[in-house]
Amino acid sequence: MTNFHNDVQDLASKLAFPASFVFGTSTASYQIEGGAGEGGRGSSIWDTFAHTPGTIIDGTTGDVTSDHYHHWQEDIALMSEAGLKDYRLSLSWTRLFPDGTLASGPNPQGVEFYNRIFDGLVEAGIRPMVTLYHWDLPQALQDAGGWLNPDTVVRFVEYSVAAFELFGDRVTHWVPINEPNVHTLLGHAIGTHAPGLTLGYEALGVGHALNLAHGAAVRALREAGAKSIGTATNHCPVMPSDPNNPMDIQMAGLYHAIYNLFFSDAMLRGAYPEELLALVESEAGSEVAAQMRAEVVGAQAPLDFYGVNYYEPAVVRSRINPDGSPIPEVAPPTEPRKHVDGAGLYDMPAEIPFLIESLPTKERTGFDWAIYPEGLTEIMVDMLARYGQELPPLVVTEGGVSFPDEVVGGAVHDTARIDYLARHLLAVSAACAKGVDVRGYYVWSYLDNWEWADGIGQRFGLVYVDFDDPSRRRLPKDSFHWFSELVRMVKAVA
Ligand code: NOJ
Repeated sequence: MTNFHNDVQDLASKLAFPASFVFGTSTASYQIEGGAGEGGRGSSIWDTFAHTPGTIIDGTTGDVTSDHYHHWQEDIALMSEAGLKDYRLSLSWTRLFPDGTLASGPNPQGVEFYNRIFDGLVEAGIRPMVTLYHWDLPQALQDAGGWLNPDTVVRFVEYSVAAFELFGDRVTHWVPINEPNVHTLLGHAIGTHAPGLTLGYEALGVGHALNLAHGAAVRALREAGAKSIGTATNHCPVMPSDPNNPMDIQMAGLYHAIYNLFFSDAMLRGAYPEELLALVESEAGSEVAAQMRAEVVGAQAPLDFYGVNYYEPAVVRSRINPDGSPIPEVAPPTEPRKHVDGAGLYDMPAEIPFLIESLPTKERTGFDWAIYPEGLTEIMVDMLARYGQELPPLVVTEGGVSFPDEVVGGAVHDTARIDYLARHLLAVSAACAKGVDVRGYYVWSYLDNWEWADGIGQRFGLVYVDFDDPSRRRLPKDSFHWFSELVRMVKAVA
């Protein structure tokens, strides 16, 4: 193992965080648990999607993945030994309520599984932050219309309260929905994630439902007695592809409104950007727009923290000229691309007049994403400027990087990940220096896992998982030891 002491000391001395700043790690149920057919768990949209040929780049599924279902004790023990005291995980809705309704549960084996985990975490002095919905909608609810059926919101709120009643004695921190914007875009607008819908602009209806589900769940959890409630929403700085092209600038503004503001304005202000309501009006009619305007107030509820997940900026290129005529070289695709997550470019359905590109930085991740730590400072400073007093304390609920890690001589020397994390922590510190109240950073991810449409090919973990080994052997990477030392050192001086 490499000795990080001097580097860590140097970094810790530069991080200007409040004493209460939390250094955590993060995971999600479908990505790590496995045990898909065990313990009475019901099927979710990700089970269906992953088992549909052609959806996942390497043909894998989350059936076993990192097998946390059988390794949870070892995983908690590793965390505990390393002094990692904060852990964000998600519950599998269908492990608790197999068809998504209260009538179908609670499933005793599912309750027992999470009881053991929460007991184990509490015993180890680890504070859990629980995400209630990390994209794994019960398939039965999808069959009834998914998020476009208003009943799904009702089911979600019931499930949220039931989960609180089951685990709220040990869980203080709650996040109703993970990345509602990514779930809307990839799952419902362009279809590269479950449930694989290609609704284009119509997917804004799904985003709207997720916003309402968030607000309703926050209120219900609060009423039930939850102490700390937040969100975990992906944010990205948005840039025009050509800063001198007015159409690129206009489309960048539109994408910023769709991707960032549609969700943050709803959750923090109970409102939508006017330009999006105008878009909804032209696409779906004035009644739909009026209904969304009236209902969105329900998305707002006071939050104890606002979680930002940050990975990379978005660069927007217009597909149309100012007169609306198409630009041939960026015309809509004739055949939808199957895997876009790592390609640095999202193909949008024909009606959407722009493409998303990746910022052409020299440094790239294993996913070929741009490495741009200053983007994290930009997001936070912009949010403070936009929301001022309305902005709750921020927490980075996810930040991390995939690289093609390899075991060499019994170790994983992932120095590039260490560098990435150090620079992103400095970017958070820079935001603090500019007056933003930031309370924590959760590394994505605690351990290597199943990266959605990209299967097991993208390793984000601090802990390596050997996916070729049926026993799913774990091996802490250098970044794990580094992070552990950093946490200890910062806490020691705080
Ligand atoms: C954010 C998502 O919440 C998580 O599930 C995913 O693995 C990471 N992004 C990396 O793509």
